[in-house]
Amino acid sequence: MADKVALVTGANSGLGKATALGLATQGFNVVMVCRNRERGEQARQDIIAQSSNRAVDLMLADLSSQQAVRQLARDFQAKYGRLDLLVNSAGGMFTKRAESVDGIEYSLAFNHLAPFLLTNLLLDTLKASAPARIVNVTTRLFPNAAINLDDLQFTNRAYSGFQAYTETKLGNMLFTYALARRLQGQAVTVNCVHPGVFRSNFGSQGMPLPMRVLNTLFRPFMRDARQAAERVLYVATSPALDGVSGKYFGERQELTSPRQAYDEAAQERLWQASAQLTGMSHTV
Ligand SMILES: NC(=O)c1ccc[n+]([C@@H]2O[C@H](COP(=O)([O-])OP(=O)(O)OC[C@H]3O[C@@H](n4cnc5c(N)ncnc54)[C@H](OP(=O)(O)O)[C@@H]3O)[C@@H](O)[C@H]2O)c1
Repeated sequence: MADKVALVTGANSGLGKATALGLATQGFNVVMVCRNRERGEQARQDIIAQSSNRAVDLMLADLSSQQAVRQLARDFQAKYGRLDLLVNSAGGMFTKRAESVDGIEYSLAFNHLAPFLLTNLLLDTLKASAPARIVNVTTRLFPNAAINLDDLQFTNRAYSGFQAYTETKLGNMLFTYALARRLQGQAVTVNCVHPGVFRSNFGSQGMPLPMRVLNTLFRPFMRDARQAAERVLYVATSPALDGVSGKYFGERQELTSPRQAYDEAAQERLWQASAQLTGMSHTV
């Protein structure tokens, strides 16, 4: 793994940090993407100490800002000649409707458009490093969960943090399937994964009160982030998944997405809207 480069978003906490640690332990050169230098540096030191791998780098970006995502991609490409693995782990739930610096509803900007933009910006580097993998972290959703493609930003309906989270995590699935179709025949695979429910900082700022209460009650019984990261590491590195693309995994097993995720017309509508909202005229 010595010459393999992995980039992990949200790598100072929870699943991202545990995934970065797992990859560093496997010998990857790990690039951690974090938004706060102090928290990122503290996590970087922890990962180096626990993995005995010094090839752990920190890059800063507030992923809710498209300018910051573009700068991150430029900085990464200037410093690294290759990218073997991209793990889009950063994500969150936000109780109140807010907008990003780009004037886009925050959950959409951070949970869906950031991985969409970052992945598209790094796609040529991934292709040049093939075989390469992309892993999008999503969650478990009801079979009838649906993303409202007519109102992605909660402009004409009441905002709910839980609903916005659900829709953007479903968006991660539609994105995964649409990208897998575009990458067919190339040695770059893209899959999504449900890490299970686990203890982390998730929702510490934005979880609705009933969920916060449940989260506190069940916290002692939840798995820890390292156990959850095993699922991500399996999808990211297992030789058993060489060439496997366009799938949704749980505990080493394929899961079934909500019905809408398989609807190609819905996938394409979301892709076009995402390309327009991020100003990506040259997506694959
Ligand atoms: N926890 C669960 O039970 C669970 C279940 C299913 C799916 N997931 C998914 O797992 C993923 C990771 O969540 P987690 O539970 O590990 O949560 P977490 O501990 O809160 O980690 C989230 C990470 O994202 C970073 N982040 C937040 N806002 C950011 C921004 N604007 N720009 C850049 N980075 C930002 C955080 O950085 P800061 O520390 O600076 O805030 C942190 O590193 C998410 O995609 C979530 O949807 C979690």
